[in-house]
Amino acid sequence: MKRRFLITGASKGIGLALANRLAGQGHEVIGVARNATDGFPGQLHLIDLSDRAASNELAAIVRDGEIDGVVNNVGLVRAEPLGDIAVGTLEDVMRVNLHPALVATQAALPGMRARRWGRIVNISSLTVLGSVQRTSYAAAKAALVSFTRSWALELGATGITVNAVSPGPTETELFRANNPAGSEGETRYLTGVPMSRFGKPEEIAAAIAFLLSQDAGFITGQTLHVDGGASIGKALI
Ligand SMILES: NC(=O)c1ccc[n+]([C@@H]2O[C@H](COP(=O)([O-])OP(=O)(O)OC[C@H]3O[C@@H](n4cnc5c(N)ncnc54)[C@H](OP(=O)(O)O)[C@@H]3O)[C@@H](O)[C@H]2O)c1
Repeated sequence: MKRRFLITGASKGIGLALANRLAGQGHEVIGVARNATDGFPGQLHLIDLSDRAASNELAAIVRDGEIDGVVNNVGLVRAEPLGDIAVGTLEDVMRVNLHPALVATQAALPGMRARRWGRIVNISSLTVLGSVQRTSYAAAKAALVSFTRSWALELGATGITVNAVSPGPTETELFRANNPAGSEGETRYLTGVPMSRFGKPEEIAAAIAFLLSQDAGFITGQTLHVDGGASIGKALI
C-alpha cells in the first residue's frame, strides 16, 4: 500500500538514501532540509530546523501532508571535550535533535490516530552507549531512545508504532565532518566496529524502511542497532 512519509534531514546521507528507497517502493516522500538538492524523489521543503521559528512551519507541513510515517532524522553533532562545553552548545544540540522530533510527531498524531495506522522512527546513535567528546550529542540521542519508549507505551493501542534506529559510524557528510580521513576519531570508530568498516547510508535506510513497513506492525518501543556489531557487549539488549 502506498504511504506518505516525512523525513527531516532528507537531502543527504541517511535521509536521502531512505527517501530514494521509499520512493522506489512506490511511497510518497516529503523531506525537510536547509538546501535544495537535484533529483530529490519527492517534495523537499527548505527549512532550517535549528531555528526556533521553524516549528510552526514544520508542524503545518506535517498536518497538511496527511503523513503516515515520520522519520526524525535531522541531527546536530558538536565535538567537545568535557571541560570545554558551553551551555549554549548543549542547548543547540538538544534543540536540533529533539525539538523537530517532538513537533513533527505531535503534528502527525491526529491524522495517524484517525487512520489507526502510523509509524514513527527516531534516529539515535551508537554514541548513546558512551562516547568521548560527544556529551551533548550522545545525551540528545539518548533522549530520542527515551522518547521512543515513552511514545510507544502511550500509543500502544492506536496502530501507531514507535521505534529507534541507532546507526554506528556511517559514511556521510556529517560523519566525515567530525571524523576526517586519517583522524584519531576515524581510527577510534573503525576499531570499535567488529566488521572493520563503516556503514553505508543505504544500509541504515534499509533498517528504517523495514520499521516503517506493514510487516513491522508488531514491533514498537525498540531500538535497532545498525552498526556492524559495534554495540555488542555494550548495549543491554
Ligand atoms: N553518519 C553517522 O555516522 C551517524 C551515526 C549515528 C547517527 N547518525 C544520525 O543520523 C542522522 C542523519 O545523519 P547523516 O550522517 O545522514 O547526516 P548528513 O549526511 O550530514 O545529512 C544531514 C541531513 O540533515 C539536513 N540538515 C542538517 N541540519 C539541518 C537543519 N538545521 N535544518 C534542516 N535540515 C538540516 C542536511 O541538509 P542541509 O545541510 O541542506 O540542511 C542533510 O539533508 C543524524 O541524526 C545523525 O545524528 C549518523
